[in-house]
Amino acid sequence: MLVSAEEMLTKAKEGKYAVGQFNINNLEWTKAILLTAQELNSPVILGVSEGAGKYMCGYKTVVGMVNGMLEELNITVPVALHLDHGSYEGAKACIEAGFSSIMFDGSHYPIEENVAKTKELVAICKEKGMSIEAEVGSIGGEEDGVVGAGECADPEECKMVADLGVTMLAAGIGNIHGKYPENWAGLSFETLDAVQQKTGTMPLVLHGGTGIPEDMIKKAISLGVSKINVNTECQLSFQEATRKYIEAGKDLEGKGFDPRKLLAPGFEAIKETVKEKMELFGSVGKA
Ligand code: 13P
Repeated sequence: MLVSAEEMLTKAKEGKYAVGQFNINNLEWTKAILLTAQELNSPVILGVSEGAGKYMCGYKTVVGMVNGMLEELNITVPVALHLDHGSYEGAKACIEAGFSSIMFDGSHYPIEENVAKTKELVAICKEKGMSIEAEVGSIGGEEDGVVGAGECADPEECKMVADLGVTMLAAGIGNIHGKYPENWAGLSFETLDAVQQKTGTMPLVLHGGTGIPEDMIKKAISLGVSKINVNTECQLSFQEATRKYIEAGKDLEGKGFDPRKLLAPGFEAIKETVKEKMELFGSVGKA
């Protein structure tokens, strides 16, 4: 059964580790992430962007697929199904469809409107036992056509949004989605420290997990980050392994064209990436 992310993140914050949110794109992605979490006895959050939700034929299809897998793969570790960077309408649709967690990304609204909409969604999620993530300070880079500038959050605004009763808070600290540019200035630990001082026990979320050096990940966790989002890195692992298979001409040998064979190296590569991240984040054995 899907669970809210609240308990797993409260435990992570107390235990000074982070739970990975891995974004899903299809059946192979979902299966790879769930099996790895189960093998490593780790809690996990499956992230679904609005674009990926559309690609997978809508939120109801996603809920059906994930619930089916939990049962048929005997997944017993805590799993949350979470809308990533949801719009107000998307958040409502996912609540209806049976997600167990949502992110309402109101960072592009003026703070007053972000607050009003977040408040309304917090009340609905509380009633349904779901977790809700809010964002302050936009995360840079491009995700599903949404381009953010990558600013650092104002700790006072973070406190204001945290006090609305959200479960976890994403604060921009110079992180961006996708690959980091050569001249990236790195994470602003000064901002993160200030945000944690204002928000106390609130689990903080680090978006743009792809390509952040290990020492920065560890430092971020030590300063209160308890959820780390990874998307692009699984895509790159899948791509690289699939490319190798085709370039080696394996699709031309015997039944190498069978999708169950063609997609297997990419599937294994996603599993490996998820494993590496769970080990780095410290969530192994914490289910
Ligand atoms: P990356 O694609 O950079 O790993 O970011 C993922 C993310 O933050 C999803 O919200």
